[in-house]
Amino acid sequence: MRVLRSPAAVQRWATHQRESGHTIGLVPTMGALHEGHLSLVRAARHACNQVVATIFVNPTQFGPTEDFARYPRTTRRALALLRHEECDVVFMPAGDQMYPAGFQTYVVTGDLATDLEGRDRPTHFRGVTTICLKLFTICKPHRAYFGQKDYQQALVVRRMVADLNLDLVVKICPTVRESDGLAASSRNRHLGPADRERALAISRVLFEQARALRNGLYTARAAERRGRQALSKAAGLRLDYFSVRQAHSLARPGPSDRDLVLLAAARVGRTRLIDNVRVRLNSGR
Ligand code: PAF
Repeated sequence: MRVLRSPAAVQRWATHQRESGHTIGLVPTMGALHEGHLSLVRAARHACNQVVATIFVNPTQFGPTEDFARYPRTTRRALALLRHEECDVVFMPAGDQMYPAGFQTYVVTGDLATDLEGRDRPTHFRGVTTICLKLFTICKPHRAYFGQKDYQQALVVRRMVADLNLDLVVKICPTVRESDGLAASSRNRHLGPADRERALAISRVLFEQARALRNGLYTARAAERRGRQALSKAAGLRLDYFSVRQAHSLARPGPSDRDLVLLAAARVGRTRLIDNVRVRLNSGR
């Protein structure tokens, strides 16, 4: 496994791979790897001849009051895990290689990025799309792998790829969960045992409401209301949102919409967690 720090070196590597007829799979990360990331590397390994993972804690996607400084930086462990998964290249740039002095050009995102995660984090998706576009330009992947756990992020990036005619496919892979249902996340390591227990309410309520929707017990609006009530009452949790949306546009669903996603964000202590569950309703109900 090669560890490259300069964008130009990765571009040379990627150009050579493309000219040799190889397929490049990209797994962008911020380095605090968990099973979710490793499942993305495995999916890339399965489908592509060459796998490049990136490790970069991207400052522009953190708001001024968010946890950029507190974000776990565990590079040595990440490199060992990526080597174990037989990653070919790790791109690990320094901050000023991605944002050199005088940097001023960003991607402008649209409606998909303004609600849910974007509501209280107005510059978050601008930062995510800008860094992803830069990583795509540097690593030249045929496929880029994202986890469903960050569902809105994956849709926003997929939208950018379509809107800007980028020549790659965005693959969205299933959320990896702990045996008790908690979605794998870099931020889970901040949870002490009591908070970890409290955090389980998020996936539990998402699955309860998803099941009720699937069984035709409630409308989307009723499921949203019930989910919101349940999580507002859950001990030790501060709910940011619980919402039922159309899976492809994140617009509010009408009665005939069948492909839905339930999304939630909540704070447990100082840690903010997000999760979501997709639901496809049978047609003809
Ligand atoms: O999901 C993440 O870890 C980040 O948002 C990403 C895609 C690596 C961009 O910095």
